[in-house]
Amino acid sequence: MEMSGLKTRSNRIWFALAVVVGMSAAFVGIGVALWFFVSRIAGYATAGFGLYMFVAYAVAMVVFGGRRAPPCDLAEALRLGGGETVLDVGCGLGRLTIDVAKCLDSGRAVGVDVWNRIEVPGNSPESAHANAEAEGVGERVEFRDGDVLALDFEDGSFDAVTCGSLLNHFPIEKKRAGLGEIRRVLKPGGRLFLMEPVRSLITWFAFTPFGFMGLKDMKHWRRLVEEAGLRVVASPACGGFAVIVAERPEA
Ligand SMILES: C[S@@+](CC[C@H](N)C(=O)[O-])C[C@H]1O[C@@H](n2cnc3c(N)ncnc32)[C@H](O)[C@@H]1O
Repeated sequence: MEMSGLKTRSNRIWFALAVVVGMSAAFVGIGVALWFFVSRIAGYATAGFGLYMFVAYAVAMVVFGGRRAPPCDLAEALRLGGGETVLDVGCGLGRLTIDVAKCLDSGRAVGVDVWNRIEVPGNSPESAHANAEAEGVGERVEFRDGDVLALDFEDGSFDAVTCGSLLNHFPIEKKRAGLGEIRRVLKPGGRLFLMEPVRSLITWFAFTPFGFMGLKDMKHWRRLVEEAGLRVVASPACGGFAVIVAERPEA
């Protein structure tokens, strides 16, 4: 997978890395002290947890952070000829918005988000736009406030919609509502590209066992997409993610 940095994210990433390294080192230090003065088992467990935290963060950053190429040709999957209007819901720093914008010429990619900064350090429309500028697609993107649960667009406004790592945070009813809104704003014949983390060895490690428990499998996502009234046309393999390309039927 192609990797490069999302520029406006870097300062916060270093801050987060410093916090994780500090906490990991503290656990290892406490573990060593426990090993010497209290109990070897407690020492190993505490130091081991510190090391696990560090490695899990590193894995999470490599697999889920930064810039990652989509697992298929987006232009082909979404049938983009260049002049389309595409919506990216929960766009964050613009990862998918930028990938879509690169498939457009006269078209436009619109990213909407509630800009949660705990989930995504540095999250803001300005950061997303700076990333798009840095990738040479600033002219073809627009970032604005928007909630996937109540999209502020007319029915059938978009030729395609992308949604990356957003709905997995929601309980089932909100997942359904979000997919319903996506279907509503898609034109008949328009396509959705959905990419959500699923249960796998890599997510067990990167999300820690606690986060992993909240994840679902491929069948879950496929069923929800179909229940929302979209027809699944492809699901390219991608380690740790359910990737679904689905179409809003014409009728
Ligand atoms: C894990 S990030 C993924 C960002 C981006 N799609 C990507 O693949 O890098 C999830 C994003 O969803 C946004 N988000 C959370 N709840 C939302 C909602 N109800 N509507 C729109 N965006 C939301 C967060 O602010 C965050 O930017």
